[in-house]
Amino acid sequence: MSKIILTGDRPTGRLHVGHYVGSLRRRVELQNSGEYDRVFIMIADAQALTDNFENPEKVRQNIIEVALDYLSCGLDPEKAKLFVQSQISELTELTFFYANLVTVSRLQRNPTVKSEIQMRNFEASIPVGFFTYPISQAADITAFKATTVPVGEDQLPMIEQTREIVRKFNSIYDEVLVEPEALLPENEVCMRLPGTDGKQKMSKSLGNCIYLSDTEADVKKKIMSMYTDPLHIQVSDPGHIEGNCVFTYLDAFSRPAHFEEYLPDYHNLEELKEHYKKGGLGDVKIKKFLNAVMQEELAPIRARRAEFEKDIPAVYDILKKGSDTARETAAKTLSEVKTAMRINYFDDSELIRAQSEKYSGSED
Ligand code: TRP
Repeated sequence: MSKIILTGDRPTGRLHVGHYVGSLRRRVELQNSGEYDRVFIMIADAQALTDNFENPEKVRQNIIEVALDYLSCGLDPEKAKLFVQSQISELTELTFFYANLVTVSRLQRNPTVKSEIQMRNFEASIPVGFFTYPISQAADITAFKATTVPVGEDQLPMIEQTREIVRKFNSIYDEVLVEPEALLPENEVCMRLPGTDGKQKMSKSLGNCIYLSDTEADVKKKIMSMYTDPLHIQVSDPGHIEGNCVFTYLDAFSRPAHFEEYLPDYHNLEELKEHYKKGGLGDVKIKKFLNAVMQEELAPIRARRAEFEKDIPAVYDILKKGSDTARETAAKTLSEVKTAMRINYFDDSELIRAQSEKYSGSED
């Protein structure tokens, strides 16, 4: 069986380093690994509209931002098809058919949807489109017969829902759909990079993000004012690592080679942490180190972005071409789905023949 990747992001803002360590970095590796027959990366604008339906302009403006972020991280249109969800109408059709296979109570139990409903104050009246987006996400995944869905932990309920739909569809109709597996970030730190203020998650509304498109100066400023350890007042004071953003970011970004290059007094992160805990290591020193490490990682991304920004029509063209390919693949699956569901009337000569036979005697 071919190995196929599908994943995506809602275009509601520029992507930040949390997206990068949580998913983008990995996607580029997977794309280049040669282990996958096909890679589809989707800008989930239709899903973004389920909770931004009053603000379509926001979604529209962010399509290009997300596309630029993808390309600048190294996603390569030759290897990965980048496409826009709303342009693949087959996904909507699949969603409608899958909706028959899911109960309201099952959707109500989805923990991600539950917490999003709370976050958006949807409790009083939940838009049906939003409530049913896990079904649409199952359509996204199955339309491409994805075997592997690289996502964050918060998306596990969506993958589980998709697997249930696949099993139900295949058992009622025919073995058409493929059960996908989630691929989670390699470790805890990458799963949930905190904001620069030490808050649980990076989020635009909290203003605690480092964006992939931030300038070198912006990144430095954000790092130098990062939350560390409020009890570490004098350099000589013993410091805490737990909840200390600078160390969390170093966990996500630093490699032993960085020490050799930028901080040769230490061999590795463990040594640095030990010194900090003992006392005698100042915040400014570790922040400067983190800045060096992150600038090294972000500089090529920024440079590639600047190149792509020079020709925006070409970026839209990449999305258009990717969407054309994605549509062909989704159309093929939809056709198999319709056949399995017995709604392929006009290209089923057997059906037409049998029906004519049934009525052929009626003239006598
Ligand atoms: N729900 C995902 C997010 O919020 C976006 C998404 C939509 C997605 N469809 C998908 C992710 C299919 C993986 C597979 O980021």
